[in-house]
Amino acid sequence: MTDIVSTELRDDCLIIRVNNPPVNALGHKVRDGVTTALKDASTAKCVVLHCEGRTFFAGADISEFGKPPQGPSLPDMIAALENCPVPVTAAIHGMALGGGLETALGCDYRVIDRKARVGFPEIDLGIFPGAGGTQRAPRLAGLPATLKMTLDGKPVSAAQAVDIGLCDGISDGDVLENAIAFARQQTDKRRVRDMSAPPLDQTSVDAEIANAKKRRRGQVAVDFAAQAVLASATLTFDAGLEKERELFLELIDGSQARAMRTLFFAERLSGRVEGLTARPVSLGLVGVVGSGTMGGGIAMAFANAGFTVRIYDANPDALRTGLERIRSLYLSSAEKGRMSEAEALDRYDRIQPAESWDGFAACDLVIEAVFERMDVKAAVFTELDRVARSDAILATNTSYLDVDAIAAGTRNPSRILGMHFFSPANVMRLLEIVRGKKTSDAALATALGAAKQIGKIPVVSGVCHGFIGNRMLKGYGREAGLCVMEGASPQDVDKALFDFGMPMGPLAMADLAGLDIGYDNRRSLTAGVDYEPLASALHDRLVEMGRKGQKTGAGIYQYEPGSRTPVPDPVVDSLINELSAENGMTQRPVLPDEIVERCLLALINEGALILEEGIAQRASDIDVVYANGYGFPRYRGGPMFHADELGAAHVLERIEHYQTKFGSKWWTPAPLIVELAANGGTFSGWKRDN
Ligand code: CAA
Repeated sequence: MTDIVSTELRDDCLIIRVNNPPVNALGHKVRDGVTTALKDASTAKCVVLHCEGRTFFAGADISEFGKPPQGPSLPDMIAALENCPVPVTAAIHGMALGGGLETALGCDYRVIDRKARVGFPEIDLGIFPGAGGTQRAPRLAGLPATLKMTLDGKPVSAAQAVDIGLCDGISDGDVLENAIAFARQQTDKRRVRDMSAPPLDQTSVDAEIANAKKRRRGQVAVDFAAQAVLASATLTFDAGLEKERELFLELIDGSQARAMRTLFFAERLSGRVEGLTARPVSLGLVGVVGSGTMGGGIAMAFANAGFTVRIYDANPDALRTGLERIRSLYLSSAEKGRMSEAEALDRYDRIQPAESWDGFAACDLVIEAVFERMDVKAAVFTELDRVARSDAILATNTSYLDVDAIAAGTRNPSRILGMHFFSPANVMRLLEIVRGKKTSDAALATALGAAKQIGKIPVVSGVCHGFIGNRMLKGYGREAGLCVMEGASPQDVDKALFDFGMPMGPLAMADLAGLDIGYDNRRSLTAGVDYEPLASALHDRLVEMGRKGQKTGAGIYQYEPGSRTPVPDPVVDSLINELSAENGMTQRPVLPDEIVERCLLALINEGALILEEGIAQRASDIDVVYANGYGFPRYRGGPMFHADELGAAHVLERIEHYQTKFGSKWWTPAPLIVELAANGGTFSGWKRDN
């Protein structure tokens, strides 16, 4: 056998062992090895399929998608398991995901470790189970449960898997030994393909599909997956398999599936820094300065991962309120069944208030999350510099400010960096790690290690105003604001971008964030950072009228008491007309295509500058930021992936079109776009010459 697949004949049981680290993806060597190993099965009474390492098969090998297929295919290997002359039992530990679960369903029986989980996460890759899963799972678990797993993408526990009929037995202890004992008792083959088709309960099926369409707005895979699963109830098994294959092949090479699997790998790459060899320092105690929404969320993110956290606020009342908010957030999670009450209180107890700055003396990492003003941040760092251990790492959670300037005020700038969390920090997975000019490799490696430990997706950014995400957002917001001044209503702009796939339009988003935030930011801009006053004229006037957004019940939209639904406001329409006239503008119809194009081109052009300046390491990092921090639709892959789909020549031509129309101030194409358009290159394929 091969080093990846080996066999052992233990008395009457043939054990097929797969060892393809890290997650036993079902690459062609695995498929080949398992198919070959099955040829010896007739000498045994039963077969057990087992994986070494941390998990059963985590799915098909995604890196093979889009490449020429190498046989045997996954459906072929599963057919070989199914047609094996003696019963086959899968011994599942860790996870059985996607093609991994489909492989298990091709076996006659499944024994699952109590802590293991099984699922069909393919929908997050823009596809659905394409190796018989949509036909076999419903025969065991029924249509509603299969649809839920397929359209949700979330794995279910071992207990649930047994409950719905996907697995036959739970194992406590050694899953391989238990599966062998179980397999020896099974004398008959029990192929799932021979079981009767599931009954069709149209009402619950319709409800499941409607729910998924809402949650996964714009994702074509939902309809495809539903069609394939429903085929299990209306077609014969073989015809159902054929239908599944046909739909699967149509989907897998489509742009949505390519976008989503590119993001899958991008999210695993973004935490890697070329040339960084330093090892992360192991972290014990973590400190957080500031107990507002951000500080509290950061403290919870670390407490959730098992860290003990010291939290301090210069205002003792604010600290008390902050801790109360954290406690009630934990208790409400427990009420919603996300954790037990004991676990909630345990996590809360890990967050300990510090009475003074001295509370940070024993911390390995301290993150500052105080008011976004340089003088306030600088004062915090003076204190931290004084009390923290000399080898502790000090991070600022600033969203815009100059990390190098913050570092310059300390004795040892090499231990300073930015850790820019996104609100709510205990939920949002994106973490921009800002590497200052003097940040040491050890500090950077430790911050990256911390991000992984708390389950975040880190992206490294260089220092600039707003780093990767917020810097790009400026142009996006600018074009949205200008479209309004030129004649689109706020709801036209928001609807156009919502229909493109954004979870919310930029104007409704501004109301949600608070119009005063941008207002204050514009008044404290660092020298050299420019903005377009016309684009924010409406926002500024509204703030001056006391309309700061949702929190004051009115902003660009108005809000009924207790409601977050934006309602268009005639007062704002008149104000727009007034401001537009004051600025000598003639209003005109601005169509949805123009709104979307201008907002996206602004993102792409700034992204290109960020890339060539070396602020982002790679185009896919920018996409990771936008997909995880700003709700860019995953099925469009992120702004730079989207630009590659449009083609650099097209992007350049459209930027030049707006340059002619609106002038060069905001519409000068980034040199990188000019370069890619000239040589037919792509952002994803571009590498900086160092
Ligand atoms: N194919 C190829 N590589 C995979 C993979 C897969 N299915 N799953 C994980 N990997 C790789 C990752 O890219 C990563 O590689 P690097 O170390 O080089 O970055 C490595 O395995 C470890 O992965 P994670 O960092 O994600 O490890 P984790 O412990 O945080 O998570 C996991 C493990 C839950 C299995 C997670 O990797 C995961 O969700 N994997 C994808 C599962 C999936 O979507 N399966 C369905 C595949 S599609 C399919 O099966 C279609 C079909 O029906 C035919």
